[in-house]
Amino acid sequence: MTDSHVIERSALHVLSPLPYAEDALEPIISARTIGFHYGKHHRGYVDALNKLIAGTEFADLSLAKLIAETAGKADRIALFNNAAQTWNHTFYWHSLRSKGGGEPPVALKQRIEASFGSLDACKKELATAATTQFGSGWAWLVLEAEKLRVVKTGNAETPLTKGVKPLLAIDVWEHAYYLDYQNRRADYVSAVLDKLINWGFASENLG
Ligand SMILES: [Fe+2]
Repeated sequence: MTDSHVIERSALHVLSPLPYAEDALEPIISARTIGFHYGKHHRGYVDALNKLIAGTEFADLSLAKLIAETAGKADRIALFNNAAQTWNHTFYWHSLRSKGGGEPPVALKQRIEASFGSLDACKKELATAATTQFGSGWAWLVLEAEKLRVVKTGNAETPLTKGVKPLLAIDVWEHAYYLDYQNRRADYVSAVLDKLINWGFASENLG
């Protein structure tokens, strides 16, 4: 291995470690699903991203900068898709936790009640966004100005580029649930909201 190869490698994006064991989300999301989703899909986006940026003016940009620079640019779609999917997936893993769901921390719960009326109404809106996203995409809880909102995005699109602050993400690409739930996306979404969603992470993101 030459020195220049070592230097080149230091600029590569890395697959963020999964914040728990692959079987930690069972029985809601199986270790098999996580194995494919994290080990193949997420890793695939990171690998593709590194190939696309090699030797280009994008090679030294941070992931967030890369996403901002390529968003909405027709000639940079592959780069944007792989960069945004790299970011979205890391954010999704942290949006879930073993024994999640339940009650959000007090300050977050108050913000949820101020924005949606109740925690149930917020969960319902997230479930509706997740189940009505046509085809592949994401449902998000975001902070816009001082208000919490639910938004959905298609394919690799991310709220990062839309002037809002992401708080939580639910992946609704089929690869996120098909092995465990087949076509029953609504069952996956409601189980995630009741048993896995990481309100503590949303609270940290609120700042
Ligand atoms: Fe995914």
